[in-house]
Amino acid sequence: MGSSIHIVNVVGARPNFMKIAPLMKQYAKYSSEIEPVLLHTGQHYDDSMSRVFFSDLGIRQPDIDLGVGSGSHAEQTGKVMVGFEKALLKIRPELVVVVGDVNSTMACTIVAAKLNIPVAHVEAGLRSFDRTMPEEINRIVTDRLADLLFTTSEDANTNLTNEGIGEERIFFVGNTMIDSLLSLRHKFEAPGVRARLGLAEAPFVFVTIHRPSNVDERSTLAGICGALGRIQEHIQLFWPIHPRTKKMLTEYGLMSVLEKMTNLVVAEPISYLDSMALIASATMVLTDSGGIQEETTVLGIPCLTLRRNTERPVTVTEGTNELVGNDPDLIMERTMDVLRTGGKRGKTPKLWDGRAAERIVNVILERIPGINPVM
Ligand code: UD1
Repeated sequence: MGSSIHIVNVVGARPNFMKIAPLMKQYAKYSSEIEPVLLHTGQHYDDSMSRVFFSDLGIRQPDIDLGVGSGSHAEQTGKVMVGFEKALLKIRPELVVVVGDVNSTMACTIVAAKLNIPVAHVEAGLRSFDRTMPEEINRIVTDRLADLLFTTSEDANTNLTNEGIGEERIFFVGNTMIDSLLSLRHKFEAPGVRARLGLAEAPFVFVTIHRPSNVDERSTLAGICGALGRIQEHIQLFWPIHPRTKKMLTEYGLMSVLEKMTNLVVAEPISYLDSMALIASATMVLTDSGGIQEETTVLGIPCLTLRRNTERPVTVTEGTNELVGNDPDLIMERTMDVLRTGGKRGKTPKLWDGRAAERIVNVILERIPGINPVM
């Protein structure tokens, strides 16, 4: 057994935090073998999009924050690359761990690969086969360059082998985001959250919308708001609004449309524990998020996804998810059907059992030189 190895763990945007937290907790069990560094690129920077998640998830605040902030894709990716290269040259870790599919994931992978530092990608192999999504480009580039590919579902393994990636690099380990959910489930307390956020003691639908394909065009966003207007005539809606969506609603003059909806409660982005507590107690969810498709599947809550495709097909084939796209009439029709029938039941996908981080760290301990020179 060699001396301890340094692992730089990258987070950048909101959905990354719950994927890295279980790894940080698992590393702590190997404190003489692994010295983890938690690095935040600063892609998301509002307290409500970032800081609050670390305390909710029970992990320390980042050791390093590159503070890159918002920008066009090229600006943001470029700024992350410049900052991350400087950090890696100082730390010289034995491994970089990236999670998910945001710009920070791809940017840090490119930098590490060029410095010949091995990269592990957690949540590898997901494909929507839709290259108009920025995340799809991030996934393809990251998986092409990463050395260890940790997957959440067997379809992801198939996608990777179809792209010519050797099986010896691919490990089906389960879902670290679901590790977070299962380990913190006892803290989801809906009644207090509902009262604090102004929700009435009545059934409600939890809504999240932030994809560029749904919010960046006025007509699409207006159509979705129209559908929500019709749905709230039947059931209370709760919508914590993402900063991108808020910006577009304001720019397109749609805030006044929302203000007229008397059965819609809007909020600023909410914390992890608050959102999980509310999703777990919602009648159903309307979303275009990637992660929420998986979380609703595990919680057994029906989910209508406002997209035409998903990189997480197991949530449709086995879980509670259904793709409805963004046509207002179809959103309305499918929502009313779920309210009438109770929606899909589903089952929990294989290995989404709370032990993904344990499996990942076991692979790392076996494969990284300096710990055990097999790689
Ligand atoms: C990013 C990810 C997306 C993920 C989402 C989760 C990419 C390409 N996209 O999208 O995959 O689903 O995060 O939230 O990486 N803003 C703030 N405060 C913040 C962060 C952003 O006000 O803390 C605003 C800015 O106006 C910014 C806009 O939101 O321009 C978009 O932020 P950005 O990080 O570019 O992409 P997201 O839409 O958040």
